[in-house]
Amino acid sequence: MIIGVPKEVYPGEARVAWVPSVLPAMIKAGFEFVVEAGAGLAAGYTDEAFTAKGARLGSRADVFQQAEIITQVLCPGANDRTGGEDLRQIRPGQYWVGFFRPLGDLKTVQAVAATGATALALELMPRITRAQSMDVLSSMATIAGYKAVILAANQLPRLLPMFTTAAGTVTPARVLVIGAGVAGLQAIATAKRLGAVISAYDLRPAVKEQVQSLGARFVELPLDTQNSEDARGYAKQQDETFYQKQRELLHKTVAESDVVITTAVVPGQKAPVLVTRAMVEAMAPGSVIVDMAAERGGNCELTQSGRIAEVNGVHLIGLINLAGTVPYHASQLYARNLANYLGLLFKGGRKEPDWNDQIAADTVLARGREIVQSRVRDFYKLPAAAAQA
Ligand code: NAI
Repeated sequence: MIIGVPKEVYPGEARVAWVPSVLPAMIKAGFEFVVEAGAGLAAGYTDEAFTAKGARLGSRADVFQQAEIITQVLCPGANDRTGGEDLRQIRPGQYWVGFFRPLGDLKTVQAVAATGATALALELMPRITRAQSMDVLSSMATIAGYKAVILAANQLPRLLPMFTTAAGTVTPARVLVIGAGVAGLQAIATAKRLGAVISAYDLRPAVKEQVQSLGARFVELPLDTQNSEDARGYAKQQDETFYQKQRELLHKTVAESDVVITTAVVPGQKAPVLVTRAMVEAMAPGSVIVDMAAERGGNCELTQSGRIAEVNGVHLIGLINLAGTVPYHASQLYARNLANYLGLLFKGGRKEPDWNDQIAADTVLARGREIVQSRVRDFYKLPAAAAQA
């Protein structure tokens, strides 16, 4: 199977779907690579590094013409700016792999399906042990969680660690992490390495132990959270009364923090508002909020997506695509996840995945000009698909 690697076209996107070091094992397994010239440069990978590891270089048109599997980071949907152009290049029967944001916009998902390509959406990766090594969402969340702390540290007018100096002792910064999933846990670990005093809160009580094992205090709120997690391990949407109560209970902890990092998202839904204007106003000037849910509407009601805003001296960092700001390692982890995933799907030279395998069945978004993913069809309230997946 020939794998095509076009350059990412979303404005400012510096990641690339493959890195040279991952190619030899794939080539040994029977794959070939055609890489668009310059595709890896922004992430730190030269054309020569790709060819040295066995890839062919070509134009974008070459890549789309020659490859049987087109691999991107941001496919149409996830690339909502310039992704439409690729819809004209992809051909029926080609595999198309990457982020598609399947629960984002029905029209785009329909347009992807209409190309006749088999679209494999990596956001739909099942949360099972076998799929962990293929889970690009977790890889990107890990990097984003780290970067959120770095951004906060950079913005904060204080030091993060305790300093004992001849001029006296400096107390450590207090960091609160709301939402202790993959990104939140990495934020805790990074803040810990930098010496901050950390508290963390999540509505899934199961997280408590993980938070504590990283050296943070788990904030417990007297809320009924028995119904907080769905079968796939994601947080369930709660009603407004729940969120209202949550905000009231979090008010004091937020006000006392120097840094608040929020990561709370519910798949396919607008992010819940957990930090209100009143809470921001209660924080000390100079404090920082990094809202990692900014792209989904934000966990703080004052967040401006894609920007750093200031309210009463509190900085609200709403920058998006934090993983993309560390493109070298983001691409490396993405490529390793892809290698594990495609290695499974096309194992032993097979030309078509085993659609009975849960990993293939859960990630296939569209096939034969139809949206075949039942979870996605249910989400958009489409009638059940005729056949397949
Ligand atoms: P996520 O990105 O969906 O959400 C971030 C966090 O915010 C979650 O921990 C969620 O519980 C929390 N949250 C949502 N609403 C909230 C609210 N109102 N208040 C406070 N917190 C709220 O989560 P992520 O990072 O994807 O991880 C969720 C779980 O799934 C974790 O336990 C993780 O270990 C597990 N997981 C398992 C995988 C596998 O087995 N292959 C792969 C990825 C994650």
